[in-house]
Amino acid sequence: MSSVSFRKLEKSYGSLRIVKGIDLEIADREFVVLVGPSGCGKSTTLRMLAGLESISDGEIRIGERVVNKLPPRERDIAMVFQDYALYPHKTVYENMAFSLKVRGISSAEIKPRIAQAAEMLGITPLLDRKPSQLSGGQRQRVAMGRAIVRRPQVFLFDEPLSNLDAKLRGQVRTEIKRLHQAIGTTIIYVTHDQVEAMTLADRIVILKGGEIEQVGTPDEVYNSPASVFVGGFIGSPAMNFAKGTIRGGQVTFDGGAGIPLHDHSAGKVGGLEGRDVVVGIRPEHFVPAGEGHALSGQVQVVEPLGSDTLIHFALGQSTLTARVAPEMRPSPGEALSIGVDPSRVHLFDAATERAIAR
Ligand SMILES: Nc1ncnc2c1ncn2[C@@H]1O[C@H](COP(=O)(O)OP(=O)(O)OP(=O)(O)O)[C@@H](O)[C@H]1O
Ligand SMILES: [Mg+2]
Repeated sequence: MSSVSFRKLEKSYGSLRIVKGIDLEIADREFVVLVGPSGCGKSTTLRMLAGLESISDGEIRIGERVVNKLPPRERDIAMVFQDYALYPHKTVYENMAFSLKVRGISSAEIKPRIAQAAEMLGITPLLDRKPSQLSGGQRQRVAMGRAIVRRPQVFLFDEPLSNLDAKLRGQVRTEIKRLHQAIGTTIIYVTHDQVEAMTLADRIVILKGGEIEQVGTPDEVYNSPASVFVGGFIGSPAMNFAKGTIRGGQVTFDGGAGIPLHDHSAGKVGGLEGRDVVVGIRPEHFVPAGEGHALSGQVQVVEPLGSDTLIHFALGQSTLTARVAPEMRPSPGEALSIGVDPSRVHLFDAATERAIAR
């Protein structure tokens, strides 16, 4: 068993409350990704689970065991950081063997464990090299190998790929996913990278100011963000927001344009008349003007990305971004007619910024 559970977990430094009553149940073999702005308590939470930081209140369990006061080495957890430090004078093999030797595991057992982990990570030809003879991505894989050979109950990753260039990030990300499929250990993974969060996670936990804002599968948090904050945090480029008011089955923007509410006829928005809202539309949910409901704006900036084009345009008082087909290259200043699918429009209460249940 290697489930993990946080119950009313608290961390304060002096009078500064950093982690504010986190409740989270992580299943055995689950891959959970923590995201949130800088300083929201992600690393602190991992460090409390690893035993590197004391907890101020609440409870942490690994499996059935309460580990609140257990020293790190008795928690059976391996952690991989962004700035993993390999021993520069030891070979890759010795780096991977070190923590096992310290634990008194025999060489006869260490050898096959390292061989297996090295094979899985594609670093077998590198075992005799020193870290200075490796690329950044290879070093990162050695750091992971060092964690894997310990066969812990839980892996913690704190932004492990953020020092790598884009191509390597992609490669190592795929390796981490493969690793999880192969060994099925529980993983808790912190990242700032949207793609890592969406592709790796069974569930994503969005933290804000030391509290959980939403927990859900990648599809749930992308399709049904619980708040303006989650809508803006998950997805890249970020969701567009504009102020509006609901009148007669439409949401009307400050600038005058309106979008019909797709569920109006189903009677689900009856109680919303006159309500001030924040409207959320993802850049990828704009469609050609002929499809969906047409809006008229004015083009401000055009960014061709090869695979698609980003158009930043003015709509009344707001500036919105649309991701459209690569052939679409309007000029700045031009009038823009663009469609939006009313069923993909998100509504949030203007005062609470929580999603309006429909
Ligand atoms: N030893 C400490 N004493 C006082 N405050 C601390 C200490 N360690 C961390 N903090 C504060 O706790 C908050 C959370 O820090 P933490 O490292 O968990 O953030 P994070 O979510 O990992 O951010 P990032 O994305 O930048 O890594 C920060 O405001 C930080 O300044
Ligand atoms: Mg951190």
